Amino acid sequence: MEVATSLLNVEKENCIKTFYNIEMAGTDYFHIDVMDGEFVENNTTSQMTEYCEYLNTITRVPLDVHLMVKDVLSYIKSFIIFEPRNITVHYESAKNKEELKDWIKYIKDNNCKVGVSIKPETKVEEIYDLLPYIHTVLIMTVEPGKGGQELIKSTIDKIKILRKYIDDNNIEVDIEVDGGINLDNIKEIKEAGSDIVVAGTCIIKSENMKETIEKLKR
Ligand code: DX5
Ligand code: ZN
Repeated sequence: MEVATSLLNVEKENCIKTFYNIEMAGTDYFHIDVMDGEFVENNTTSQMTEYCEYLNTITRVPLDVHLMVKDVLSYIKSFIIFEPRNITVHYESAKNKEELKDWIKYIKDNNCKVGVSIKPETKVEEIYDLLPYIHTVLIMTVEPGKGGQELIKSTIDKIKILRKYIDDNNIEVDIEVDGGINLDNIKEIKEAGSDIVVAGTCIIKSENMKETIEKLKR
């Protein structure tokens, strides 16, 4: 299991030290939660832009960018400059499949991996036809918009359904799970078939980040 640490709840003051500590604790990725105040209520655009600027000067840990925005193409363009490992867009932010495919193509043409994220209420079958073209499906286990929420239990079935479909059809795509993940539910998430987990609060608030990340990975 790989771990992407969400930086949404990292305080700005001495954030550089926090990023260093998270890297030393063994995170595989820094998960960058970009919110525009329209697709979701919060706006983290300037904070996340600043964090990406710092990160690109101090670390080589890959950036896992999660766009929760309405004007997707302009945000893709502003975050592609940080040369992230992947940019993940929301299925629900596209007018139609064509637009989604345009974004997928644009991101791949810029040598960046593509993720598509689905909100808790979106059925996983909706994105089956996109699977051959993307690298990651980001299954939201909370309503996007803020950290520190309780994992929505019913979303775990979506991981199982998607895992079965991917395996039955031999498709090369990662399942990443995001929201409310902690040491109490990680076993269930793992058994459901996820490859990567995003965790914010459970890592940032933990006594020993290294131990927590190791337990999430196990
Ligand atoms: C929510 C974000 C998640 C969230 C994860 O909109 O996409 O990445 O920050 O934080 P926790 O682990 O605290 O739920
Ligand atoms: Zn996220």
